Amino acid sequence: MNKIIAANWKMNKNSKEAAETIKELSAFLNNSLPPKREVIIFPSFISLEASTHALSSSVLQFGAQDVYPAKDGAFTGEISPSMILDAGAAWVLTGHSERRHIIKEENTLVGQKTSFALASGLNVIACVGETLEEREAGKLYDVLTTQLNQTLAKLPTPLSPERLVIAYEPVWAIGTGKTAQTEDIIEAHAIIRELLKDIIGTSVSQTRILYGGSVKPENAREILELDNVEGLLVGGASLKAESFAKIIQA
Ligand code: G3P
Repeated sequence: MNKIIAANWKMNKNSKEAAETIKELSAFLNNSLPPKREVIIFPSFISLEASTHALSSSVLQFGAQDVYPAKDGAFTGEISPSMILDAGAAWVLTGHSERRHIIKEENTLVGQKTSFALASGLNVIACVGETLEEREAGKLYDVLTTQLNQTLAKLPTPLSPERLVIAYEPVWAIGTGKTAQTEDIIEAHAIIRELLKDIIGTSVSQTRILYGGSVKPENAREILELDNVEGLLVGGASLKAESFAKIIQA
């Protein structure tokens, strides 16, 4: 399986800035990717269509940062899977810690979004991770167990393994510059891989687990080489084309 390098731009870049950054990134990459790498950009909803159309022959894939678990209807402010697909994107993030802890999104809703998006034809990066308080209280295993069981409660079957990706993002490492130590990453990814055995079954070894949380060009390669790390989910360091290109090429 290819390793995924994903950019979560969060609430940054208008459509013009997003298209500009994508053009710069493609230039830094010479519109080609290192072997066994996939790159997915998650711009804001407002920039999504401009981003997917920024370069017709792009090697880049695109996704949305959220989705609502319904085909259409009276859900003010929400976006459906078909709208995301129509905008030219194939991926969606679910359960990002900022949606869990700022927007107060419950595990059950994350689970509904994950299964509905997969059933609607989107590929999903489902995010899990503990807060500093939960880690310091020794609750890492319990938090990951609860989040994974509820996020992956009703997966559509059959499901080809490359369509569902898990991102481990320790909340205390996001946007803080405080990257998790390698032993923390190894421990959490091993727990996730073990938990996935019961949830995903035989294709667990092909289910990719990404690390996210203060990834930078300086630490990307070391993290990518760790066991059970099949990619990165990058926030701040992906906003500048040059630094994100360095991470992709790490
Ligand atoms: O989804 C990725 C993001 O939460 C990580 O943010 O800025 O720590 O790379 P950052």
